[in-house]
Amino acid sequence: MHNLLTLNLTEALTTRRLADGATFAEAFARLTEENRDIHARLLSHKDEWPLGWLDLDTRKIDASNSGFLAKKIWEQSWLDTLVVAGIGGSALGAQAVYSGKRKAKEEKHNLIFLDNIDPFQVESFPLNWSHPALNVISKSGTTLETMAGFLSLRSEKFAEAYEGQIVATTDKHKGVLREWADREGWPTLPVPDDVGGRFSVFTPVGLFPLAFAGVDIDALLDGAATWQTSATEDDLLRNEAWQLAALHYLLHTQSTARMAVHYIYGDPLVLLGDWFRQLWAESLAKRNRLDGTVGDGACLTPVVARGTTDQHSQNQLYMEGPDDKVYGFVTCAKWPEDPVVVGEAFMPPKQGAINGSPTFQIPPELEYLRGRTFGELLEACRLGTRDALCELGRPVYEVILPELSERSIGAYMQMWMLATAYAGLLYNVNAFDQPGVERSKQLAMERLKRS
Ligand code: PA5
Repeated sequence: MHNLLTLNLTEALTTRRLADGATFAEAFARLTEENRDIHARLLSHKDEWPLGWLDLDTRKIDASNSGFLAKKIWEQSWLDTLVVAGIGGSALGAQAVYSGKRKAKEEKHNLIFLDNIDPFQVESFPLNWSHPALNVISKSGTTLETMAGFLSLRSEKFAEAYEGQIVATTDKHKGVLREWADREGWPTLPVPDDVGGRFSVFTPVGLFPLAFAGVDIDALLDGAATWQTSATEDDLLRNEAWQLAALHYLLHTQSTARMAVHYIYGDPLVLLGDWFRQLWAESLAKRNRLDGTVGDGACLTPVVARGTTDQHSQNQLYMEGPDDKVYGFVTCAKWPEDPVVVGEAFMPPKQGAINGSPTFQIPPELEYLRGRTFGELLEACRLGTRDALCELGRPVYEVILPELSERSIGAYMQMWMLATAYAGLLYNVNAFDQPGVERSKQLAMERLKRS
C-alpha cells in the first residue's frame, strides 16, 4: 500500500441496497471477483489504445527534456512568465497542478493560461510585460481556440509585449503547428503518439509549463509511479482506482446515481475537479460499445462543488433533492499555511485605531472560533456536510491527500486516470477517443471557413 492517499468508503455506502437486492458491499465483492484481470485486460489493448500514460519510465524522459528546456529559458533571466495557449487536455492538467502548488508557495516564475476565446479574456491580456515566453500546446495543431489565442498574441496589438521565446508542444511528425514550428525554428516538445489530451499531464504538455513554474515534476511523477505500483498488484481490493471505478459503475448501473459530485475542500484543489470533469466525461460518455452494439452513452455526469462556499448553495439540493448522486469528498489533511481566526490571547484593538474600541469583545456565541485555524474550520464543515449526507443514506466516499505536495497530487491524478480507464472497460467503451468533441470542433471550423 502507498501512503499518499486515503480513500474511505462510508458505512452508508457499503450497506446501501442495489437493484437486485444485494448490498453494495456484496455487489462490489462480486464485481471485483469478475474483474480480477482488469489491469491485464487494459494492457491487452495497448496496440490499439493510447496507453502511454501508464509508461511512467518514458514519462521520466519527458520530464528531463521539459526540465532542461525550462531551465534554458529561465537562464534568459528576463523571462519570468510563461503564457500557455492550450485548451481541454492541453491545459487543464497543468492548470490544476499549478493551482495546487502556486497557492502553497510563491514562485518566482509564473504561468498565465490563455484557455478560452472569450473576448474579455483576450482584451484584458496585459500589454506591459517584458517579453514573457509563449508555450503553444496543441496535439492536433489545428484547435481553433488555441491557434486563435496564439495568433492574437503575435498580432500588431500584442506583438511587442509578447515577442519572447516561443515553445511549441505538438505532434512529433504532423500537423500545422509542427510544420510551422519547424519552419520558424522554434524549440518544440512532443505530445507522444500514445497519449491522448486528457491523459497528457505527465507528458511535456503538463511537464514543461510546470517545470517552468518551479513545480517539482520529478516528485509529481514519483507520486504517480508509487501509487501505480500498488494498482498493479493482484489484489484489486488494495487498488483504489478499481474501488472508484467499481463504486461509480455499480451506483450508476444498479442504483439511482446519475451524477458524480466532487465536493472539494481547499481552493488549491478545486481545479483538480475541473480536470476530473473532462477526464471522466470525455472518456466515458460513448454510444459505441466495444462489442459493436450501440448504447445511450450514459455515464455519471461529473459535477464540481467547492467547499464550503457551495454548502450555502447546492447543498440543499444534495440533502433534500433527488437521491441521484454519489459524493466524493476531496481534501488535504495538512495545509502549508493555516492562519488562526483570532488568537487565544486576543486583545481588543487600541483605542483610536480605525474601528477600534476599548470595549470590543468577542460575543460569547462566537467564542468557539477563538484559537481555531481556518483549516480546522474547513474540516469541521466538511465533516458536518459529509455526516449530514450519510444520515440520509446518500453514497459518500472520501479521498484525503496527506499534504499539498507534488507527490500527493501526482498520485491523485494517476489514480483517477486509471479509475477512468477501468470504468471504460466496465462500460465496455473506448475511453480514449472523443468523437463528440471532434464533431463540434469540425462544425465550428466549417462555419467559419464558409462565412
Ligand atoms: O482530451 C482531448 O483529446 C481534448 O480535450 C483535447 O485535449 C482538446 O480538444 C485540445 O486538443 P489539441 O491538443 O489537439 O489542441
